[in-house]
Amino acid sequence: MGAEATVRFTVNGQAREVATDPERTLLDVLREDLGLLGTKYGCGEGLCGACSVLVEGRRMNACRTAVSKVEGRSVVTVEGLAKGEALHPVQEAFLELGAYQCGFCTAGMIVSAVALLDANPSPTDAEISAGMNRNICRCCSYPKIVKAVRRAVELAGGGVR
Ligand code: FES
Ligand code: FES
Repeated sequence: MGAEATVRFTVNGQAREVATDPERTLLDVLREDLGLLGTKYGCGEGLCGACSVLVEGRRMNACRTAVSKVEGRSVVTVEGLAKGEALHPVQEAFLELGAYQCGFCTAGMIVSAVALLDANPSPTDAEISAGMNRNICRCCSYPKIVKAVRRAVELAGGGVR
């Protein structure tokens, strides 16, 4: 563990300040210091996508991101997607279609789908598969996940956000 530093960044619209080893992962800081447990630890190696978060709107693996890298930046986790009581269309679609079994991959899947639809609000099935291919579901819920992303497009009226 290195020397502590104060890292300031925004999480789900709130300014946060954490005194920590700047080389600690964003994932550990989110879960252990900020109590945001929606973002999951799957592989810790950038291979499964369970730890997906948005940094300045871009999907990133929080397990491979040093917290110092988000200094001054905006981070959104799965907890930050709903607007009050209103779920994000991607969340609604996953719920409606039951696009999960154990649910361990789901937060990462949802965050990745949000990033995908922000960049491409009306993707083809091939684009959905390509856009989600950095997320692994060990329960193999892939067909339902693709359907849920398609449904999210409908719920958002052809354009998410
Ligand atoms: S836990 Fe980060 S990619 Fe698997
Ligand atoms: S629902 Fe179990 S890992 Fe995806």
